[in-house]
Amino acid sequence: MNESIPQLQSYDDAALEQAFSALAAEVRDGAAKLSSAEAQEQFRLDWLGRKQGRLKLVSDAWLKTAPPEARKPLGIRFNQLKQQIEEALSGGNGSTSATATSGALDLTLPGTRRSIGVEHPLVRTTNQIVSVFKAMGYSLAVGPEVETDYYNFESLNFPPNHPARDTQDTLVLASQESKPLRERLLMRTHTSPVQIRTMEQQAPPLRIVIPGKVYRNEAEDATHLARFQQVEGLCVDTNITFSDLKGTLDHAMKALFGSSVKTRFFPSFFPFTEPSADMQISCIFCGGKGCRKCKHSGWIELLGCGMVDPTVFGFVAEKQPAYDPKKISGFAFGMGVERIAMMQYGVSSVGNFYSADMRFLEQFA
Ligand code: PHE
Repeated sequence: MNESIPQLQSYDDAALEQAFSALAAEVRDGAAKLSSAEAQEQFRLDWLGRKQGRLKLVSDAWLKTAPPEARKPLGIRFNQLKQQIEEALSGGNGSTSATATSGALDLTLPGTRRSIGVEHPLVRTTNQIVSVFKAMGYSLAVGPEVETDYYNFESLNFPPNHPARDTQDTLVLASQESKPLRERLLMRTHTSPVQIRTMEQQAPPLRIVIPGKVYRNEAEDATHLARFQQVEGLCVDTNITFSDLKGTLDHAMKALFGSSVKTRFFPSFFPFTEPSADMQISCIFCGGKGCRKCKHSGWIELLGCGMVDPTVFGFVAEKQPAYDPKKISGFAFGMGVERIAMMQYGVSSVGNFYSADMRFLEQFA
C-alpha cells in the first residue's frame, strides 16, 4: 500500500510546504474512507507502522539526510503531520468529514438494552382472581379511591359513631368539617362502596367483581401497609342463599390454588352482611397437616364474606327500587390481594411489592 516517498528537490520553505501538504492531503483522503475498525487499523499501519509506515519512510528519506539548518523546520512539519494522522485515528478534528473521524460512531459496540416491562406481581394476582370470577359470569366494576362517608360507611350500615368504624382507621381529607357528615371525603377503607355505587346504577340480577386500592391509617409492618389492594365480589338475584356463597367461593379457591384445596367458614361480623363469615382455605403449603406458614393449624384465613344485609338493600332502594329486600337476596365477599400474592410467590414482607426495587421485581419477569 505504501508508495515510495519522493525525493525532496530542495529544503527551502516552499519545497517543504509543498511536500508536506501533499502528504497531509493523503492523510485526509485516507481518513475520509475509514468505515470499519479493520480499515482504521490498516490506515494506522500504513502511516505509523514501525518499519514500513510512511512516517518512518519520510523520516528516513528526508530527515536523516537533511542539512543541519533544515532539520528544525523539517522536524516541525514532521510532527504536525504525525499529529494529523493521530487525530484522524482518534476521531478528532483532523478531518472535516464526520464518518472519516471513525470512532465517533462504532457500530460494533454493544447497544443499550431497553427491557420490555411485564405485569407487576400484584397486577398479575389481581387479574388471576378477577378472571376466575369473570369465567363464572361476573363483570368488572370499579369506583373512586376518594369516597364520601355515605358510600364508604353509612350506606353499608355503619351508622355515625358505630364502633365498627374504629376497626378501619380512616384517612380523611382535610377541611371537610363544614360539610354534612355523609358528604365528607375520605380515602376508601375497602372496595365495598363500589357495591352500592353499582347497584344504584344497575337493577338486579347483578354479578360483579371489584378490584381496587384501599387505604387505612395503619402502622406499617411486614404484613400491613396503609395502602393495599382488594378484590370484592357481589352477587344479587332472586333466591340467592348461603349455599351459593359457599359453592362460588369454594370453586374460586380451587381455581386459584388447585383442586385439592378445601374451604371452611367461621362466623364473623361485618355491618353490611348478615350472617357474616370468615373463610379459610386448607394450607396450600402443607396440604392441611400443619406447618409454620399456617401456624400449625392446617388452615389459612383468606377473606370476609356474608349475605348482603337487607338494610343495605334499603339504602340502595332509595335510588333503585328494584332492590327490594323482600324480593331479592345476595352475597358479597372481599379479599386482600397482597396476602394472596405473598402466599403465591413466597414473599415474606409486603413492602417488597411497593419498593420499586428491580432486583425484586425482575424475579417476576
Ligand atoms: N369490606 C370488608 C373488609 O374490608 C370485606 C368484606 C367484603 C366482607 C364483602 C364481607 C363482604 O374487611
